[in-house]
Parts: sequence; structure tokens; C-alpha cells
Amino acid sequence: MSTKNNQPDWDKIAEKFDVWLPHIAPVGEELLAALEAKPGDRIIDLASGTGEPALTLARRLKGHANILGIDAADGMVRVAQAKVTKERLPGISFQCMPAEQLVFNDNSFDRALCRFGVMLFTDPLQGLKEMRRVLKPGGRFALAVWSTPETMPTMHWSYEVFSKRLPEDQHPPLAKITSLGAPGLLEDLLNTAGFSSFSVVRKTFDYQFKSFDDYWDTVEASDILKQQYDALPQNERGKIRDEVGRFARDFIHDGQLRIPHEYLVAAGGK
Ligand SMILES: C[S@@+](CC[C@H](N)C(=O)[O-])C[C@H]1O[C@@H](n2cnc3c(N)ncnc32)[C@H](O)[C@@H]1O
Repeated sequence: MSTKNNQPDWDKIAEKFDVWLPHIAPVGEELLAALEAKPGDRIIDLASGTGEPALTLARRLKGHANILGIDAADGMVRVAQAKVTKERLPGISFQCMPAEQLVFNDNSFDRALCRFGVMLFTDPLQGLKEMRRVLKPGGRFALAVWSTPETMPTMHWSYEVFSKRLPEDQHPPLAKITSLGAPGLLEDLLNTAGFSSFSVVRKTFDYQFKSFDDYWDTVEASDILKQQYDALPQNERGKIRDEVGRFARDFIHDGQLRIPHEYLVAAGGK
């Protein structure tokens, strides 16, 4: 399985990413509970994408938010910042910046947050070192990464149907997305980054869709597999939906599609 970082072009799909937000909201709730942020805390959200879970936290902290989201993709940052402007949310802003090179002083944040970002970093260890560097002594972090390939059915289905049709350098990035999911890996990385006090817990949530059509509409609307689609010969494109649909059959209960996905929550202090 390729470990090449052929992740989606986040800049190009930024306007479409939000179709996933309701589906991954339960993971945001877990992180916010583990983060234990207080009004007035200075908080950084790494790889903040189109703004979650930072925006949810800002709404809850009302006028007491002091949150900065950073993301390497300018398009994602623009979408996040537009939400701040539209809602006139105080105390939160977004900047374009790689997690591996934060421009902030040492010991400058009380809390650090990151949902489904670390495993996508070009250099996850450097990103975690930076997260630790900018945290104040006594500060807390909470982050989530995806678990192993077999516990991530939707991504696994896509991998199966595309990878047999495409050269390795165009496969869906299953290996990268699940690169920190195996037992012990995230713990080792956090230790190497200098963290000594933390827990890593495996959790499951369900992607829930009204039907397979509903799921497939979401996949298409998000353009998350656009690179792979565009790389397919025309006569192969129409077969993808039906093949994925066959995998999905096992997950239809009472007419609804419920697909369990495993992820890891790491939380701790500096
Ligand atoms: C799956 S999205 C998650 C976005 C958001 N945290 C959420 O949960 O909705 C992954 C994000 O990681 C960002 N990303 C990837 N590599 C990065 C890096 N090295 N530094 C900062 N952000 C990065 C991408 O641009 C993308 O917005």
C-alpha cells in the first residue's frame, strides 16, 4: 500500500469539505471534552480546515474565546475565516501556516487541539514538537487520528475499487490517513515529541446516512476522491459507485446506512 502523501487537494475542495462536518461532529465533541478549555484560555487549533472544532468552541465560550486556527491550505483558511465574518464571532481567527513551522513564541498557548490532522502532516513528529513547544507548561492538548485501515470501512472501500485500476502513485491515501493507527505508534510519536503525560484511547463512531445514495451523494459533493476519478479511463468511472455499493450492503440496518469507524483520541499535558 502506497505511503505517498497523495491526499486531496485541500485548496481546491475547500468550498466542498463542509458536507463531512455533521458526520465527524461526534469526534469534535470528544476532543472538546478532553481539552477542558476555560474562558480566556489562549487556544490553537492545528490543521483547522474549514474551522472545526475551533468554531464550535468559540460559540460555546461566547465573548471569552481567544482561539487561533492554522492550516497549510489557504483555501481552507479562507472558508473558515468567512464563517467568522458571517457570524461576527469574537475572539477567533484563522491563518495559513504549516503545523511543522509555527510562528509563535514558546509557551504561548494554554490549549492545543487537532482533529484528523496530525497523520496528514508532511512531518507528524515535527508538527507534534511544534505543538509542544508553543504550549505553556501546564497546558493541555487533545487530538484525534484515524485508526487502522480495516477499521475505516469507507476509505477502505475506495482504496479497493480505485487501487486495482490506478498506478500506485494515484491510489487513495489510505496508508497516510491510517499511518498512526497501529497500536503504540501514536504513543511513541508523542513520547519522541517530548510529551510524557498523556492517554491514548481507541473510540468508535458511526457514519450515518439515510441510504447508500445519500452516502454516495456526499462523497461526490465533497470531491474527496476527485483526483482518483479524474485519473480513471472514462469507461471505468461508471463502475465505481456499484462496486462501493456492494461493500456497503453489509452496513444497511433498517434501511439506514451505519458504518462504524475507529479513531484514537490522545489527550494530555505539557
Ligand atoms: C481532514 S482535514 C481536517 C480539518 C479539520 N480539522 C476538521 O476536522 O474538520 C485535514 C486538514 O489538514 C490540513 N493539513 C495537512 N497537512 C498540514 C500541515 N502540514 N500543516 C497544517 N495543516 C495541514 C489540510 O489542509 C486539511 O485542512
